[in-house]
Amino acid sequence: MSNNKEAWGSRVGLILAMAGNAVGLGNFLRFPVQAIQNGGGAFIIPYLVCFLLMGIPLLYVEWSMGRFGGKNGHHSTPFILDSMDKRKFWKYIGVFGIFTNLAVAAYYCYLESWTLSWVWHSVTGSFSGQSQAQVASFFGNYISLETLEPIVFWIICLVLNTWILSKGLSGGVEKVAKVGMPLLILFGAILAFIAVTLKAGDHGAINDGTLGLNFLWTPDFSTIWSPKVWLAAAGQIFFTLSVGMGSIQCYASYVRSKDDIALNAMSAGWMNGFVEIVLGSAIIIPISVGYLGIDTVVEMTKNGGLGLGFKTLPYLFDQFGGALGVMCGVLWFGLLFFAGITSSLAMGTPCMGFMQDEFGWKREKAAWAFGFVVLLLGLPTVLFFNYGVFDEYDYWAGTVSLVVFALFEIILFAWVFGMDKGWKEITTGADIKVPIIFKYIIKFVTPLMLAWVFISSLPGIWSQIKNEAIDKQILAATDPAVIEQLQTQLLYVNISRVGLLLVWLGIAYLVYIAYKKRIKEGRFTS
Ligand code: TRP
Repeated sequence: MSNNKEAWGSRVGLILAMAGNAVGLGNFLRFPVQAIQNGGGAFIIPYLVCFLLMGIPLLYVEWSMGRFGGKNGHHSTPFILDSMDKRKFWKYIGVFGIFTNLAVAAYYCYLESWTLSWVWHSVTGSFSGQSQAQVASFFGNYISLETLEPIVFWIICLVLNTWILSKGLSGGVEKVAKVGMPLLILFGAILAFIAVTLKAGDHGAINDGTLGLNFLWTPDFSTIWSPKVWLAAAGQIFFTLSVGMGSIQCYASYVRSKDDIALNAMSAGWMNGFVEIVLGSAIIIPISVGYLGIDTVVEMTKNGGLGLGFKTLPYLFDQFGGALGVMCGVLWFGLLFFAGITSSLAMGTPCMGFMQDEFGWKREKAAWAFGFVVLLLGLPTVLFFNYGVFDEYDYWAGTVSLVVFALFEIILFAWVFGMDKGWKEITTGADIKVPIIFKYIIKFVTPLMLAWVFISSLPGIWSQIKNEAIDKQILAATDPAVIEQLQTQLLYVNISRVGLLLVWLGIAYLVYIAYKKRIKEGRFTS
């Protein structure tokens, strides 16, 4: 009763779509900030180790799980996991692979809509001749919804995503990836060139662009054993590669069962690595350090890094002057837009695949339903951005949920499904020889690392549940208005947490119904 006849149009299209899934706002906004906050050179080594020992193994695992599930007509994680082991438990673990996509899309699309709006404002010259404080207050007014503009751009962005999704994989997603990815790399290369060749004294810069790069790329072994740095590196690897989310499994489930996944997974994974390590580190850091110096930039990114990209860069580009400044603004926010949309499209497909497979929905209906749910779920992040709702979504869906899901899926793959069968899945149809060492890494090293990441995160999770950070701020505050704002924040944060939990439970309920339906229709999973 499945209505799901999706397929990829071409191999290039598949790889670019998968790379587009991974390459996102995380590469350009999250990575630089994580690197700066974790000591620059001290961050890169843990980052690379996590890439090799967790990122790549998980890519292999998720691609092969996806193709395996797709063979039997499953396109979302609940029933992909179910087809790997008969215990009922797994399909509820699979709920994470839908939940994360929905909840991340809810805040991610809002961020994505800013990039559209900032392209518009760069073109129309809203930032030209403005002081840094003025650009900052433009941003402040924007997120406080002083005008309706943010809502308008957000809805445009949602409709655009939904419309592309309704055109399907080869007719929509793939086309966007084929245009967006090359443009993104071109824009990134131009900006990186400008940033790295920035000279102290040019356009008012006080440092060379290379100062920021050196900060990042000079290995610093002093804090290399700090668990905080390792957790940050692991978290970044998850987020940037889109592993532990269910979107890779979904894309891979539309790969034909005899087609290669080993080389494809590496192509998409390394393309993401290139964009992150080379382009992601060569734009925002060199420019902002060039103008502001390392200490200021470290200080500015303490409370997250969105400000750097949206408040500071437009001002600094304006210092370049005239046409060059406008061009850099358009390239930067245009690049962010392409990075964002190719990722948010990937967040739509697991939810759609699930409704198409289990409830016989047509693609269009599934796409518009996804758009509608994202609208509802995203509304609080838009309306109450200043009350920490956005960050709360990011914490639970974009940080914790990935690790939990990845830990379970690798146990399922390597230990329950079994590593011998798993290895066969990975290597079937492979166009490259996957080094045999990965068989052992996937079986022993990755699960242990994931377990370590999970266990070391527990104190942080517990402190988040208890709202320790906000409580501390309340205790420290003296101004009654500030205290009131923080108390409202506490309330909104708690409500959004309960909301997210209900979304998870709602999806689990749908999985339960789908399961009963399968039994009734005699469509046993295998
Ligand atoms: N990897 C993307 C980034 O770097 C984020 C992303 C893509 C994502 N697909 C996802 C997050 C699915 C959650 C779920 O920005």
